[in-house]
Amino acid sequence: MSHEVTKHPVPEAFAAQANLTPETYKEMYARSVNDPEGFWAEHGKRIQWMKPFTQVKDVSWDKDNLHVKWFADGTLNVTESCLDRQLETRGDKPAIIWEGDEAEDAHTLTYRQLYKAVCRFSNVLKDLGVGKGDRVTIYLPMIPEAAMAMLACARIGAIHSVVFGGFSPEALAGRITDCESKFVITADEGLRGGRKVPLKTNADKACQLANGMVEKMLVVQRTGGDVHMEEGRDFWLHEVGAEVSDECAPEPMNAEDPLFILYTSGSTGKPKGVLHTCGGYLVWASMTHEYVFDLKENDVFWCSADVGWVTGHTYIVYGPLANGATSVMFEGVPTYPDASRFWEVCDRHQVTIFYTAPTAIRALMREGSDPVDKTSRKSIRLLGTVGEPINPEAWEWYFHIVGEGRCPIVDTWWQTETGGTMIVPLPGTTDMKPGAGSHPFFGVKPELVDAEGNILQGEAEGNLIITDSWPGQMRTVYGDHQRFVDTYFSAYPGNYFTGDGCRRDADGFYWITGRVDDVINVSGHRMGTAEVESALVSHHAVAEAAVVGYPHDIKGQGIYAYVTTVAGVEMDDELKKDLIKHVRYEIGPIASPDLIQFAPGLPKTRSGKIMRRILRKIAEDSFDALGDTSTLADPEVVDQLIEGRQNRS
Ligand code: WT7
Repeated sequence: MSHEVTKHPVPEAFAAQANLTPETYKEMYARSVNDPEGFWAEHGKRIQWMKPFTQVKDVSWDKDNLHVKWFADGTLNVTESCLDRQLETRGDKPAIIWEGDEAEDAHTLTYRQLYKAVCRFSNVLKDLGVGKGDRVTIYLPMIPEAAMAMLACARIGAIHSVVFGGFSPEALAGRITDCESKFVITADEGLRGGRKVPLKTNADKACQLANGMVEKMLVVQRTGGDVHMEEGRDFWLHEVGAEVSDECAPEPMNAEDPLFILYTSGSTGKPKGVLHTCGGYLVWASMTHEYVFDLKENDVFWCSADVGWVTGHTYIVYGPLANGATSVMFEGVPTYPDASRFWEVCDRHQVTIFYTAPTAIRALMREGSDPVDKTSRKSIRLLGTVGEPINPEAWEWYFHIVGEGRCPIVDTWWQTETGGTMIVPLPGTTDMKPGAGSHPFFGVKPELVDAEGNILQGEAEGNLIITDSWPGQMRTVYGDHQRFVDTYFSAYPGNYFTGDGCRRDADGFYWITGRVDDVINVSGHRMGTAEVESALVSHHAVAEAAVVGYPHDIKGQGIYAYVTTVAGVEMDDELKKDLIKHVRYEIGPIASPDLIQFAPGLPKTRSGKIMRRILRKIAEDSFDALGDTSTLADPEVVDQLIEGRQNRS
């Protein structure tokens, strides 16, 4: 692979107004890693504390005594930073600009309106019996009530667990039971791209599957669709919310009390409940939001992610609101009613900073530049991407066509586990190389290691580890601390293993190359191959399944499933359709296999381990790069699979 790249200097007009310069970045970065205590003692004050912290960092990454604590003797409630403290100078400033699925269905909530709505919501939750430390599952569409629900939980000290509305009842039930959540907040129906999503019906099914775990369900009316309401269990928000007070005192929380759980896929087993706590997370969310996006008082910031993912948590809700910024929330999809939609929303709300995923850029790029050209986009001054590596073609298109060469692109590498951005070309501080995550954020110490754990110097490629803690780091896997230790701190003891591969070029830029474990990245969504496999084998016709990622033009990676059937079933298109339906039922549409290949057998070592390396190569048509197959129990299987791949069977 050639590593020739074009370097783009920061556009001059942008550089002239940027909050950071190459020099200030270097100075701040050096201080952040040389004197973390001093650096974070200072920056920890950027959020509102009820009782200020005196301790800064208390971390051990030793696997026998693993703990991560920041600002541990401080007391706060994150909603005071996001709401109360904004009222005095920003009470009438838009906090959330919401744009619905139908074009021009929009409304704005000022900080004062949002504050009151959150207080009312908090009182509703209290009336339903929700208390400090209780887990509340939120299964909502992209409506302001989603942000309100999260903030209301935070205000009363409950732990929210947001589940993306595209997950199936089965997947929702799994997440409800894992954290023993007695409360669910949902809506009658969602609306995306003109299509209705039966959220309440899904939630009802999930409650059934969760076997009586759910005691109360709060339902937001979105579409007015006719849904079943269970007497004594289900309550309409607009009914129970009508009578409550719009004042609610914030619950004092320790900095290390849990703020939220967010489930994410790993390389093995069921999804993990990533736990973030109040103090460090909010410092990280607000600080990265300010510096990564060169934030100014009058910016209109739009992160197009869903609140069901960490990107939505950090850069739609907590980061922007803690910074008193205006955050745009969009219910729809980039291509509805047509491919101009993103840019029309930017024009309508005079968006100045736009943050989206490479998969969306690639999908829009396919439609050509006309849908972009017919919009103005003059308000935009900075563009961002997140979720997966961006290919240089898509980067250039985003830069030249969308941003007209005016706007830097911040390619932000981070993870659910990291709470916020970790590696990024901070705008104004560095030349941009299309596709490069570039440089570490303040306090982040990345290194590359080889398989034996040796740290690599200079220009190199290896596995990406982080060698010291940062305030936004996840604290544990909810209910399974050992899994936290094993997943992140056992491969390279004493260090955090990201699961990503990475290259550092001769200029010291970091380039994330993608996952090196059995996690695939489909349209910027993380999927464990093991999860899809276990969904497949739960189908009566399937004996065995192996799932790998393969290159996909729009999605980045597609899901490729090798399936061995039980004896006597017809291996036809009908069965393929049925298998796809089954996976959608078990997990949700985002896990649908893009390609299914019936396999007479799977390549295994003599000890019975599936050789995924070979399956990945076959799926990407690299038949010459299979490597050594002689150690396989049954080498012939490989030829049969290649033949099947070539026949697309
Ligand atoms: C994985 C984390 C971060 C919020 C969205 C995804 C990949 C993420 C980039 C990027 C290359 C990226 C990594 C990472 N990833 N951003 N800018 N360049 N790869 O969060 O679901 O926890 O997934 O997404 O592989 O490990 P997530």
